[in-house]
Amino acid sequence: MTPQQAVTFRDAMSRFPSGVVIATARDEDGRPWGFTASSFSSVSLEPPLVLVCLSKAADCHRVFSSATRFAISVLSAADETAAATFARRGADKFAVSNFEVDEHGSPLLRSAIATLSCRKFDTYDCGDHSVLIGQVTGARLGPDDHPMIYSARKFGRFLPNAPAHLTAHEQVRYCFRCGSSLALSVPPGDTLGRPVCHKCGHIHYINPTVIVGCIAEASDGRILLCRRRIAPRRGYWTFPSGFLERGESSEEGARRETLEEAGADVGIERLLCVIDVPQISEVHLIYRGLLTGNAASVTTESSEVALVAEPDIPWENLAFTSIGESLRRYLDDRAHGRRLVHRIDLRSAPERDNQDSDAPAPAAP
Ligand SMILES: Cc1cc2nc3c(=O)[nH]c(=O)nc-3n(C[C@H](O)[C@H](O)[C@H](O)COP(=O)(O)O)c2cc1C
Repeated sequence: MTPQQAVTFRDAMSRFPSGVVIATARDEDGRPWGFTASSFSSVSLEPPLVLVCLSKAADCHRVFSSATRFAISVLSAADETAAATFARRGADKFAVSNFEVDEHGSPLLRSAIATLSCRKFDTYDCGDHSVLIGQVTGARLGPDDHPMIYSARKFGRFLPNAPAHLTAHEQVRYCFRCGSSLALSVPPGDTLGRPVCHKCGHIHYINPTVIVGCIAEASDGRILLCRRRIAPRRGYWTFPSGFLERGESSEEGARRETLEEAGADVGIERLLCVIDVPQISEVHLIYRGLLTGNAASVTTESSEVALVAEPDIPWENLAFTSIGESLRRYLDDRAHGRRLVHRIDLRSAPERDNQDSDAPAPAAP
């Protein structure tokens, strides 16, 4: 395998989602050791066998190799601190979380959703890891919480049948805080139905989304447009715009979107328009901007980035109604030498951003 293939192998494996456990054992002096592992698997039902793979480079390898017993704690999504701590070499691992011991003295994480006490059954030498096989001598179930999953080097939670994007009230089914199911009810003192957690009582206020964007002009009057590489409306043209992130101002968001979608630095000028799209709970804030450098030709979000003169604007192939409405006002203001702030209500002109499109790619301007 070439070094590049070795990197790809690791990346490919990172895309395989797994659960996460903490494996624990004691050394000959009775001192507890442990490590976070995703390489845990059941092996046999009769006899009940499990395995976990441990790197020979781990500090605890010597202890697990010689130990006659070890234990497995299956983590819930809430145990991220424990997972991170037990993956940190040299950390004071048993100080951060709450442990009890099984009848053989092996540490078990109290908050684990399941624990297994194991007698060492066998050890296999496999490349740079040892495969530890344990015969399960005791199994216990903990709280029925959402299991932790690990995928693409990130911790997450397993939510059965969860929708891919939790955007609308009716799609939000689980509590952001504790993961329990939600029911729609009107909280005391409120007037609208909200998704409320039946377990912890957390009220999920889901308010409209803010979209920020920028019509950026070059010194020769051409306008920066991008062809969308991603759904929705893949292949259609837009000026840089997207969701405002937490902690940034609308101007910062518009500047960031211009950088992300077009690879271009822009100086944000006056606000051009505020667009209400209540039928999809969106508010758009679109700025005028001046390009301060060159744009990219493509980015991860745009298959083409172009400076487009007014007569060449691909009006028939714009991604969203709001893009055309903003551009028209921008150009009209420019023609009349004014810089108004417009308010646009797209209630009667449905925004098209809930449509995806794999339509034949429109021609470049
Ligand atoms: C989610 C996750 C899964 C891991 N899985 C394994 C594993 O299966 N085997 C392993 O040897 N190390 C694994 N590691 C890395 C070890 O937990 C880490 O290297 C640990 O510090 C080793 O123990 P040590 O501190 O005694 O060296 C994993 C780390 C993370 C964050």
